[in-house]
Amino acid sequence: MAETPKPTEVVEGRDPIEVLNEKKDNSFKGGGEARIAKQKDAGKLTARERLELLLDPDSFREIDPFVLHRTRDFGMDAPDKQFLGDSVVTGWGTIHGRLVYVFSQDFTVVGGSLSEVHAQKICKVMDLALKNGAPLIGLNDSGGARIQEGVLSLGGYADIFLRNVMASGVVPQISVIMGPCAGGAVYSPALTDFVLMVKDTSYMFVTGPDVVKTVTKEEVTKEELGGALVHAGTSGVAHMVAESEEDALFYIQELLSYLPQNNMEDAIFVPTRDDALRTEASLDTIVPHSPNKPYDMKEIIRHVVDEGRFFEIHEHFAQNIVVGFARMGGHSIGIIANQPAFLAGVLDIKASEKAARFVRTCDAFNIPILTFVDVPGFMPGVDQEHNGIIRSGAKLLYAYCEATVPKITVVTRKSYGGAYCVMSSKHIRGDLNLAWPTAEIAVMGPDGAVEIIFRRELAKAMKEGGEEAMLEEKARLVASYRERFANPYVAASYGYIDDVIVPSETRPRVINALEMLSNKRDGNPPRKHGNIPL
Ligand code: HXC
Repeated sequence: MAETPKPTEVVEGRDPIEVLNEKKDNSFKGGGEARIAKQKDAGKLTARERLELLLDPDSFREIDPFVLHRTRDFGMDAPDKQFLGDSVVTGWGTIHGRLVYVFSQDFTVVGGSLSEVHAQKICKVMDLALKNGAPLIGLNDSGGARIQEGVLSLGGYADIFLRNVMASGVVPQISVIMGPCAGGAVYSPALTDFVLMVKDTSYMFVTGPDVVKTVTKEEVTKEELGGALVHAGTSGVAHMVAESEEDALFYIQELLSYLPQNNMEDAIFVPTRDDALRTEASLDTIVPHSPNKPYDMKEIIRHVVDEGRFFEIHEHFAQNIVVGFARMGGHSIGIIANQPAFLAGVLDIKASEKAARFVRTCDAFNIPILTFVDVPGFMPGVDQEHNGIIRSGAKLLYAYCEATVPKITVVTRKSYGGAYCVMSSKHIRGDLNLAWPTAEIAVMGPDGAVEIIFRRELAKAMKEGGEEAMLEEKARLVASYRERFANPYVAASYGYIDDVIVPSETRPRVINALEMLSNKRDGNPPRKHGNIPL
């Protein structure tokens, strides 16, 4: 049974240190053995075990282990309803020697539900993280608002939301979902920079299956409605999905290595044995001759970054664009790349929003952006238009325009139409815009262009010589259009492309550019804030 809810109660004559240790022991026991066993049966670690795995050995310093909830309603004042520390463990520690603030919700204590004091404990570490400029990591495992506390609990959530927003863009905030996360509770993780979910044991939804069934008559399981795979692949709410809790905590450690402590610092330099001058011969032939043949952009990425290590974000969501972190010459960079191997790398609503968010994350945390371009344009279709591709495309455009970190662009193949402008072009403050000789930079692809600008000529050929003559004429016109526009040299002749490079030399050229831009200073006009088309 938990400690009697009188923190000041100390039996006279007892050794004070013994009393302290006893109270701490009680606090460490969380909801007690039976509930811990239930947690284990559900395939989950305890709140403290998770922190042990996440943080450097012996680095965790807990605060508020003696906090008790204050509710007296619904029998909550009974001794067995009070737990020292309540339903969250908070404090700080280090990951690879770097300070982080943490909270870890304890599902064994009243279902990890958020009481007034639970919220206060989280707010305390959030305030410390913001004042001291260090990342905040939240391990979420909670039944949501403490039902017995009513509005006090709701107020607690709102207090956390406010701090999430105040810390946004100042210190990295990372959320790991390791159990239930339902109702308004989802909005704290959603406000943070990265959300990671654990497969099979975590779920997130605003309204659960029962409410969904009542309101819309749809029947779904928790997993189908808001499991890790759904949020990683369909909604995009989760940036990463882990096979296990251990994997999730390991991902967080690696993710942090690409991020600075706060917006005033740079990410750490990680020395590498990968030669900055290394060339990669296979890149010279990776782009197929046929402009419609796909290839895997991730292969290019792996060939140019340090040791081939690419830490992908949103891997399963909007796969027509690839985003993630890597290092080049030891420096952390963010990569955004169209993926010709998926939907031909077209920009649609989801891809635009995914990339826009990532550009802003990099810009907020001083991480240079490397963009690989092979994009046929924006996705056509009624569905895309009606769901706001205009607004979503504008988000990506806005994000790139606004970003002041070093921006390096490499056009590998197609760069057509509006997508040319959007994908970190020279005009929107691209610092160094390079192209491979295989680049095609034009208003649209040769086939589509010829069909529009030579419509009359094609109709005439059809009328005079039939379909065969028309196709012959079209092939001739496409070839001449391609010769004129489908190459990097027209853009390069205007200075819109700074240089055309041999593909195998991409790594040394990009590392050189990063060094050249390492002291870049740029800014935006003073204003309260811009008005990104949300
Ligand atoms: C108080 C709660 C609780 C809650 C769980 N418990 N959720 N106590 N408030 N929100 C308690 C249970 O009574 C139980 O106590 C213990 O936690 C474990 O719960 P179980 O139900 O036994 O666990 P399990 O079967 O694993 O089910 C987990 C669960 C379920 C799916 C999360 O507990 C559940 O549906 N809880 C209610 C979820 C909910 O509706 N929350 C409010 C959402 S609205 P004992 O003493 O038996 O161990 C919300 C609004 C936020 O959160 C708004 C923010 C703006």
